[in-house]
Amino acid sequence: MRKHLLTLTMLAASLMATAQDATIKLNTATPGAKINKEIYGQFAEHLGSCIYGGLWVGKDSPIPNIDGYRKDVFEALKELQIPVLRWPGGCFADDYHWRDGIGPQEQRPSMRNNNWGGTMEDNSFGTHEFLNLCEMLGCEPYISGNVGSGTVEEMAKWIEYMNSESDTPMANLRKKNGREHAWNVKYFGVGNEAWGCGGSMRPEYYTDLFRQYSTYLRNYNPEKPLFLIAAGANADNTRWTDVFMKNSNKAAKGLSFHFYTVKDWNNHGSATNFDANSYYSTIKLCRKIDTIIKAHCNVMDKYDPECKVALMADEWGTWWDEEPGTIKGHLYQQNTMRDAMVAAISLDIFHQHTQRLKMANIAQVVNVLQSMILTDQKGTGHMVLTPTYYVFKMYKPFQEAQNIPVSITCEKRDSVPTISCSAAKTQKGTYAIALSNTLLDKKQEVSIDLSGAKATGVTATVLTAKNVADYNDFEHPDVIKTAEFKGAKIKRGILTATLPPMSIVVMEVK
Ligand code: AHR
Repeated sequence: MRKHLLTLTMLAASLMATAQDATIKLNTATPGAKINKEIYGQFAEHLGSCIYGGLWVGKDSPIPNIDGYRKDVFEALKELQIPVLRWPGGCFADDYHWRDGIGPQEQRPSMRNNNWGGTMEDNSFGTHEFLNLCEMLGCEPYISGNVGSGTVEEMAKWIEYMNSESDTPMANLRKKNGREHAWNVKYFGVGNEAWGCGGSMRPEYYTDLFRQYSTYLRNYNPEKPLFLIAAGANADNTRWTDVFMKNSNKAAKGLSFHFYTVKDWNNHGSATNFDANSYYSTIKLCRKIDTIIKAHCNVMDKYDPECKVALMADEWGTWWDEEPGTIKGHLYQQNTMRDAMVAAISLDIFHQHTQRLKMANIAQVVNVLQSMILTDQKGTGHMVLTPTYYVFKMYKPFQEAQNIPVSITCEKRDSVPTISCSAAKTQKGTYAIALSNTLLDKKQEVSIDLSGAKATGVTATVLTAKNVADYNDFEHPDVIKTAEFKGAKIKRGILTATLPPMSIVVMEVK
């Protein structure tokens, strides 16, 4: 009898073990750093139809607008709770002269966008239009200044124009242009990609320039001092980080790096026409950002063990071939479940590094690269939300939450974990848990040990698709959208979830 009981118990135990494809443990006893909301930052460059036709259509447009800002786009972005928006570039920043974008719009000079298709722009979207948009969205502006083709004086005066409240020449010019109070811009980038389109510099030369420029960038508001961000490395170029950290003055509060999920810069590949192998290689490649962050952190730790200088991933995301039939150089690309997966995995990785990583800006917010929103290029006034938009929306509870490290045991494919997960204690006191099943053809049952955290209920949202290459377009805007997830339950402190193939689930555990 005893023998039978033992056999039955062993059988039950083995059934339980095989019932789960993955196990996760929340390490609630050793919480990590706060996840700065700026990790959920966005980027808006004068590139293609990001600004003109995306964010801005002008007051006289037949497309519904609020003082020139496209209404549908504005409302969708407001819903996303964007914490910070980077502008005007990118490469465009080092070609931009801010004085061309102030004063009466009809008197502003036109310019050629040299980096992006040679498109002519009328400068109707400038400093006022950008900073007022940030106020309307309730987000911090992050301005990238021109080091490559600008001057110290030009940059210093731009800051005076935006931030001086007193009787100074630039503040008076701003007032003349209709804005009485300073905007108090906090995040200011001293150049962009100084190693490339921002001036083709060596790190030694850029570091010296940074020292020079930063000397003249004044703080006009002691309550909200400038947070200067130095232009940093291309991907894993840690030499750049090393030279800057070693030789810079103490003026930089942040140092950036850029990483795009691109396998071959000469052949990006189609955004929508790809096979399973290409999907899995993208999932593997996007995880490289983890190694890159660690590498930069190691260098920074050497010079700054107290983490006084933040690391900022101020450009990241996928970069595919431009959509057939769109303007060359405008980087207009579609967005599928593959992009959504890259977004979720990258955000999970960022959460693990928030001790040092204080900001990330996905490229870009509308109509460019891995965007949140696509607007119809034919000017019909149609707009769609991309799968990546939905990921950012689902992950909102992570903004300002405290990261909870997770230990994951799961199946690997080509040595890459097939489950991505991150967890955090939200400001409401609940737990946010994000889970992605990257397998295209297999559901996975995940068991999550909450390590004694009190849990009485769970609500969840899921993003998935019939096919990994599905996307939303103007005729079919709702092919991919979020739905309520009913596959999670809690029993005796253990949370289980059955993740559909190729799905992203965000749960709130109360
Ligand atoms: O986001 C597109 C471009 O990529 C940016 O302008 C530049 O900084 C980067 O090379």
